[in-house]
Amino acid sequence: MAGTGTLTPPLFVALATYASWMVLFLFGHLRDFYRKKIYGGRAVKKGAEGYAPIRQDYEDFYTRRMYYRIHDAFNRPICSAPDAWVDVMERTPVDGQKPLQVTGATKRCLNLGSYNYLGFAAQDPYCTPRVEEALDQLGWAAASARADAGTTPRHVELERLVAQFLGKEDAITCGMGFATNSAFIPLLAGKGTLVVSDALNHSSIVAGVRGSGAKVKVFDHNDPAHLEAVLRSAIAEGQPRTGRPWKKIVIIIEGIYSMEGEMVRLKEIVELKKRYKCYLYLDEAHSIGALGAGGRGVCEQLGVDTADVDIMMGTFTKSFGSCGGYIAGDRGLIQYLRCHCPAHLYATAMSPPAVEQVISALHVIQGLDGSDRGKRKIRQLHDNSNYFRRGLLEQGFDVLGDWDSPVMPVMLFCPAKLPAVSRYTLERGLAIVVVGFPATPLLTTRMRVCISAAHSRADLDYALEVFKALRDRHHLQYCDAETASRHIKAFQAHTNLAGASGVQVPASLQERIEVNNQLTRATVEAYHAKDRDLLELRHAQQNDFMVACRIDDLERAPASDRRREELPSLRGALAALSAKCIEPRLSQTGFRIMSGERRSGHRRSRYTLSPLATPAALLDAFKAADDAAVQRNPAGALLQLVRCTQAVGESPLKLGVASGAGDAWQAAGGAAICARGDGFPTVLFERWLSVLQQAGKRLPYKAENWETVAGVIKEGRRQLAAAGLTCGAAAEAAQQLAATHLAACCALEAAADPAAARAAPQGKQALQPAAGGTQQEGGAAAKRQRHL
Ligand SMILES: Cc1ncc(COP(=O)(O)O)c(C=O)c1O
Repeated sequence: MAGTGTLTPPLFVALATYASWMVLFLFGHLRDFYRKKIYGGRAVKKGAEGYAPIRQDYEDFYTRRMYYRIHDAFNRPICSAPDAWVDVMERTPVDGQKPLQVTGATKRCLNLGSYNYLGFAAQDPYCTPRVEEALDQLGWAAASARADAGTTPRHVELERLVAQFLGKEDAITCGMGFATNSAFIPLLAGKGTLVVSDALNHSSIVAGVRGSGAKVKVFDHNDPAHLEAVLRSAIAEGQPRTGRPWKKIVIIIEGIYSMEGEMVRLKEIVELKKRYKCYLYLDEAHSIGALGAGGRGVCEQLGVDTADVDIMMGTFTKSFGSCGGYIAGDRGLIQYLRCHCPAHLYATAMSPPAVEQVISALHVIQGLDGSDRGKRKIRQLHDNSNYFRRGLLEQGFDVLGDWDSPVMPVMLFCPAKLPAVSRYTLERGLAIVVVGFPATPLLTTRMRVCISAAHSRADLDYALEVFKALRDRHHLQYCDAETASRHIKAFQAHTNLAGASGVQVPASLQERIEVNNQLTRATVEAYHAKDRDLLELRHAQQNDFMVACRIDDLERAPASDRRREELPSLRGALAALSAKCIEPRLSQTGFRIMSGERRSGHRRSRYTLSPLATPAALLDAFKAADDAAVQRNPAGALLQLVRCTQAVGESPLKLGVASGAGDAWQAAGGAAICARGDGFPTVLFERWLSVLQQAGKRLPYKAENWETVAGVIKEGRRQLAAAGLTCGAAAEAAQQLAATHLAACCALEAAADPAAARAAPQGKQALQPAAGGTQQEGGAAAKRQRHL
């Protein structure tokens, strides 16, 4: 087993552990025997007359003879929020098989038992007021299934945010984390499917796989070599009896194993998944929010692209301080789940305040609340976890799990130590969960410490003090000093190499995360501004971004990757969008449109630019997006440019075009003017110049057209000059070129219709007519050239 501890006890401890269990079983059976003899009845409690006992024989024996002896160590009620400190309700001492009664007294304990990793489960200055508002607006309960009347805008927003956060196309949520596994897995695996499942997967996964009817093979916990062996033999053998190939193979793993605190060896498993063309299902119940510098879970922590994980499952019950779970994946997959999953169709939706809690927590984690609290919380969680793990190792405890993991099982091995440790720690003000058989194998009884970002150093020091006393009293020193120092040194070397958070995120992924964050921030602003149109536009932009990312990923995947088959349809989708509106095209080149309004009937567009638009990206977009358009139709492009520039004249920060909508010209022209402060306006004129050169021959050669063009150039220059900006040589050249065309047009028109030219008022100054022009032509030209 990887990590800092081991599940294998020293020989003497193993023997003592088996001996303890034997004594317990022996005494249990002896007591049953005497009970039978003395009372003359059955050992098993009888059911109602004529009914068989409801509990199975063995469960009945275990409950009476083992569990009731120590049941005060389990199910401890609390009566405060599960914050760093918690009020534990005291109960009557163990008294035979009687249920425990609460006494009314409480004990304030340091909470080392809750999954409150980021501290969101208690009051939070950002989340709590929003949850209260959601409560006022939407009430306590959704009171209906998602597919009926249980979908509020907050549910939709949550699913979008989750997909964004994980870099997936879409997500679906469910009211319960356990049910997310147990109800969704049967839709992903069925007859003819092989599920290859980690030996220590959570019980919800086991329930889901059992309910699916798929064939299951188990591989040794977190062991890629064994996984490969299982895959190879399963593929070679095919389906049982028929030997037919499997319809599909799904590998199911967890991000952090909840009873081991250990991170999955994701990189190796992703490699195997690709090599053997299997689907990968990753349960991130404990890792989402808790791992990775940005809280994006084990993929971020280990530098794995989320595109390589087909189905990302997680729960909101740990790091987000709420309830429910999610599945994130490709749009097609999620749509399929929406249409078929009973948990979506027939189970009541998540309660709106719980949804709002997750949304708000996601905002904080991503810094969308305007602070860096989220990042600090995650860092604090890692620091706390590593500090405590190190403290325990130095004291000689056998601690399972990896560095940065907030789950820290501490091995007890011997079952007799379980109640003793639980009672001792409670007495000294620590609330800790203890776990033994049947939740673990017989040999591996343990206590499980869960660290939170809400814990302070003083809290952790206090806990370490208690642990020291506990170790001496109950002989828990299973790890020798040399092993402990080896683990600590390995960790230090690792952090020195890769920075405090352990592993570096690849630059490409980091970049995407940044863009994603900015887009999400813009969406949140739109939401708070209560601007529906803007919100819709934001969602569209984010979807475009996701499609573009997906295309990018697939393009980089090896030619043999089956998922590349999707590429043509994805490109098609993007191209279809491009034809209709400018956003997707621009999104590919790195900038976004801030807001917009489109009325299909009138083909009317209005855009302003996003803060994402950097001058360099705009310039590229400006050139790249439209070269093809200019070549196809230079005259049309020129007219677009005229309209765009006119619209810019209306307001430098807003581009309003009442014209054939949706061309990058409009945005690019607006962008050029918007970016004034960056010395950018000459770009517009450069563009003017190149388009004028190409359009010269194809724009209907009428003086009226060229008059407009020339007028617009002049106005553009005037505005820029008023703003104190120089326009550069390109502006000069563009103006010259327009003037030449206008003069030539005037000359042609005058030649064709001398009467019209005569009717034109004489110019004040005698301008030179274009080559070959007459005196009258000169008059018409003079009139027109006053525009320049
Ligand atoms: C790996 C894993 N998956 C799923 C669940 C179920 O989640 P929930 O508690 O949100 O129902 C848990 C619970 O701890 C878990 O550890």
